[in-house]
Amino acid sequence: MLKTVDFDRTLILTSPHYYSLLVTISKDKKIDVMGLSWFMFTSFSPPLLAVSVGNTRNTYKNLKEVPEFSLCFPKPEIAEKAIQCGMFSGKDMDKIKELKLETLNSAKINPPIIKDSIVAYECEVMNSFATGDHSIFIGKIKNYLGDNDAYEHIYVKDGYSTTISIRYDIK
Ligand SMILES: Cc1cc2nc3c(=O)[nH]c(=O)nc-3n(C[C@H](O)[C@H](O)[C@H](O)COP(=O)(O)O)c2cc1C
Repeated sequence: MLKTVDFDRTLILTSPHYYSLLVTISKDKKIDVMGLSWFMFTSFSPPLLAVSVGNTRNTYKNLKEVPEFSLCFPKPEIAEKAIQCGMFSGKDMDKIKELKLETLNSAKINPPIIKDSIVAYECEVMNSFATGDHSIFIGKIKNYLGDNDAYEHIYVKDGYSTTISIRYDIK
């Protein structure tokens, strides 16, 4: 039966949510990677996606300096490292180096992609606007890569505190 609940409770009830890694680069070429659940596709033609980034994140600063990002969907093998990317800030830590995350050069943008991903999108920011404490960045997808031999990627549940991986048969 529906009843009034806290907003946080609705985030649990709408679980699982995607978990992705948003990779950015600063104007002095420092790479950062943050955990991100608030993502959506917004257009087929041209291919566009949107990410919602907190205004206090180091990633936000990077996106304002260099308006490009890769959005990578990590495989379960790197789930633990991937979650750490959502717990620590690039202001305090070089996450790529300290978590030993392997990267590959992107074809069309400056930020790299995460090697152990099932899918990676390379995007150029074509628009951004503040919502509340987060801002929406619309990414024009310049290139995309996928691993046809992979069957699982990571979701989060219980208010973003637990990771699960979902296996499915890709046709
Ligand atoms: C499961 C999970 C999901 C998250 N989703 C988002 C999100 O959609 N948007 C956001 O701004 N932060 C999100 N975060 C928080 C950021 O990843 C976190 O604040 C990170 O430390 C920011 O890193 P940065 O300061 O290096 O950019 C999430 C964290 C976790 C653990």
